[in-house]
Order: sequence, then C-alpha cells, then structure tokens
Amino acid sequence: MKITPVILAAGQGTRMRSALPKVLHPVLGQTMLSYVLEATQALCEEKPVVVIGHEAGLVRQAFEETAEFIVQDPQLGTGHAVMHAEKLLKGKTDLVLVVAADMALLRAETLGKLVKMQETHDGPITMLTVVGEDPRGFGRVVRETGGRVLQVVEEAQATVEQLNIRELNTSVYCFEADWLWRALKQIMLSPKGEYYLTDLVAIAAAEDRSVMAYVLDDPHEAIGINTRVHLAEAEAWLRSQVNHQWMLSGVTIIDPATTYIERGVRIGQDSVIWPNTYLRGTTLIGEGCTLGPNTILTDTSVGDRCQVLASVVEGAVVEDHVHIGPYSHLRKGAHLAQGVYIGNFGEIKNSYLGSETHVGHFSYIGDATLGSHVNVGAGTITCNFDGEKKNATEIGSDSFIGSDTMLIAPVKLGEGARTGAGSVVTRDVAAHTLVAGVPARAIRKLEKRD
Ligand code: UD1
Ligand code: MG
Repeated sequence: MKITPVILAAGQGTRMRSALPKVLHPVLGQTMLSYVLEATQALCEEKPVVVIGHEAGLVRQAFEETAEFIVQDPQLGTGHAVMHAEKLLKGKTDLVLVVAADMALLRAETLGKLVKMQETHDGPITMLTVVGEDPRGFGRVVRETGGRVLQVVEEAQATVEQLNIRELNTSVYCFEADWLWRALKQIMLSPKGEYYLTDLVAIAAAEDRSVMAYVLDDPHEAIGINTRVHLAEAEAWLRSQVNHQWMLSGVTIIDPATTYIERGVRIGQDSVIWPNTYLRGTTLIGEGCTLGPNTILTDTSVGDRCQVLASVVEGAVVEDHVHIGPYSHLRKGAHLAQGVYIGNFGEIKNSYLGSETHVGHFSYIGDATLGSHVNVGAGTITCNFDGEKKNATEIGSDSFIGSDTMLIAPVKLGEGARTGAGSVVTRDVAAHTLVAGVPARAIRKLEKRD
C-alpha cells in the first residue's frame, strides 16, 4: 500500500511566544520538524508533504530537499491544514499518515505499528492515543461503554465529565485516503473559528465505520510541544534516553543530568564524560578518552585516549593521545596529530600540528603548519592577519620557539630552528639556526640533534 505522510507545521505556535516558528525550535540541537520528518522517512518511501503557513519561507528553506511543501494561508485549524494536501495527493496514495510537527519524540516504530493497524482493519481511521495523568490541554478520546471510539473533544469544548477522561489524542493518525478527502468536507467550523481534524473521528462513528486507537506503550513519546515548558520536558527526556544508551554501550557519564549529547554523536568504549560537557553535531569520540568537566565539542573528531578539560573545540580533528586544556579553544580546521599537548589558554585555528608538538601556555596559532616535536613557548603568536588577508606560517619539525615570539606571517622556519625569547620574526629562518631580537636576526647555526 502506498502511504504518504502529511506533517502539520503551519501553526504560529502562539503559546511558545517566539519570533521563531514553533517547529524550528531545537530539541537537543535539532529542530522539532526534523525529528518528525526523520521518523516518517524511516517508514514511507513517499516524500513527506509538509503544510506550512506561519513564516513559511523559513520553514521551507530549512527542509527544501527533504519534503514537498503546501502553504496554508490563513491557518484555520488542523482539519483545514489537511484539506490543503488533497490537491497534491488525491488519487495518488492509499493511506495518509498525518503527524503534527510538534510531536518531536515519536518513534518511527510507533508510526509503523499505527500504519500496520490501519492496514489490517476496514475502518477509515487509526489514531494514536496516550493514557496519562496530565492531560496537557490535549483532546480527550471519548469511547462508548463497549470501548468503541466515538469522538475526540477538545479541552475547550469538553464537559466536566469529559475533562476527566485520561485517554488523550496525540494528533497522529493514519487515514484511508479516499475517505479522508470526502470526510474533510463535512467538518463544520468550531466555536473557535477553526476546522478541527479531530472532528473526523465523530464523522466516521456517525457513518458507523470503526475507528481504531493504538495506545502508546511509552507516554513520553507523546510529549507534544506547545510551550517552552514542554520544550524543556522534551529535551530532558530525549537527553536522558541518549545518555542511557551511551552508558549501556560502555561510556561512563559521571552526571547524566548535566551531560548533553546530541543524536549525531558517536563515542567509543571506556570514555569518561565529566559534568557540564556538551557533545554536539557530528562529533566522534574514540575509546578511553576523558572529556570535561566544562567542555564543548562541536563537529569534531577525537581519536583514542585523549583528554579534553574545560575547553571548547569546534570543527577540529584530534588524533590519538592528545591533551587539551584547561581553558583552550580549538577552532575550525585545527588538526592535532598524535600526542600533541595543548595546555592552558591556547587558541588554534586552521592549523596542523605534527605529532608530539607542545603548545603549553597562552598562544595563538592560526593558518600555520607545524612539524612534529615542536616546542612552542609561552605567549607565542602567529601574526597571521595583515589587516587585509590571512597569511601562513610554517614551522619545521624539532623547532623550539622561545617564549613571547611573534611570528609575522607569511614566514617559514626550517627544521630545528630556534627563536630567542621575545623575538619578532619578520623573515624566514633557515633550518638549525638560532634567531633573536626585534626584528629577529640569525645569531648562529645550531648543531643538528638526533
Ligand atoms: C491538537 C489536537 C488535539 C491533540 C493535540 C496533540 C486538533 C483540533 N487538536 O491540539 O486533539 O490532543 O493536537 O498534540 O487537532 N497546524 C497547522 N495549521 C493550523 C493549525 C495547526 O498546520 O491551522 C499545525 C501546527 O503547526 C501544529 C499542529 O498542527 O504542528 C497541531 O496544532 P496545535 O495548535 O499545536 O494543536 P493542539 O492545540 O496541540
Ligand atoms: Mg500541539
């Protein structure tokens, strides 16, 4: 059977009180809408159709490649939103899987079970419901004494008795497509001036067709996000799930409540994560590393047995046995080979540091290539910016850069070069040569060391 997802993302999300459309708010580093898109894509081959309206341009731009878009303007409710999909989908799909974009925690497996249930029953609707003590403003699922689903009442319209119902509508449904397009036309305007998609349940019941309800096994999946309080709840739940998985796979997390690992991250066995550490984007961590406390790693790959302490590392490549921190900053394009040591207050940008090179204290290394076993003295700066463009610095292996050296780029230092403390190096330095002074001049040739 052909199944097409329709994702409802046109609402303003008034209750978020935000200039950003609700569905673009991030949950653990990823927008709400991206979760729903991923879950439906894992299930259906058809490109999902996303109904957009409020700030349509922004939403479309974020997901241009992954989905088809229809604009709903004005936004007159969830039923009205689905009506807009008819033009695109009529006659082209057997089932329509409708998901509200604010249900970010839904799992693909759950959607799969819902679709399976619809495929094996002859009624026009299978809906996903949840039983929970906190009704969170959700619509209540009204059943007959025998259990048959009769209707969904929105909280605002519910009687006192109905308000006590604890089976709630999640806003996720699988519909028989032909029936859906026909029934949508029968929805009446609500007292709030909206066309409620939920009315379809009563319409089916009135036609004496059966409505199936699949009750969620794990109520956390139904944390729909209407306010920033719900956003924090969703984030906390997802984070705890991710951390749980890493702990089971052999990663020590000292304090899961203050450890933030995004879903795209991978971590090797026996790594230890100290509190207040953020692993973001596509970060990859090897085995036996120690990260944190107070560390942020974004889109960075780290080898085995590294230590990163109280530092910020973005867009960097770090090979095995590297030590960073405390209080250092690696920026985009920093590549530290095996055994590199970065101490405190080091900033490295767009630079390659060869194996066993040390930058112990207060240095800026930008647009530079350093060989192996280089010792960079305290306070060394690559002066890479001349006011117009960035210039390169090259430092050969086994060099020794004296404390407080200024390397005025573009400049090259040969293998085994040395600079005296406080040198300002304005010209290239030959291999195995000591320079000193301002500007630095050659003092003597050095003996090659083995
Ligand atoms: C809806 C359901 C409610 C359910 C709850 C679960 C209706 C009438 N109510 O209420 O029974 O318990 O979800 O989360 O369906 N949207 C549009 N166009 C619109 C209005 C909304 O695309 O004109 C989108 C929103 O962007 C959102 C989704 O539909 O992603 C749901 O809208 P929302 O306003 O959050 O509905 P709820 O009040 O949560
Ligand atoms: Mg909602």
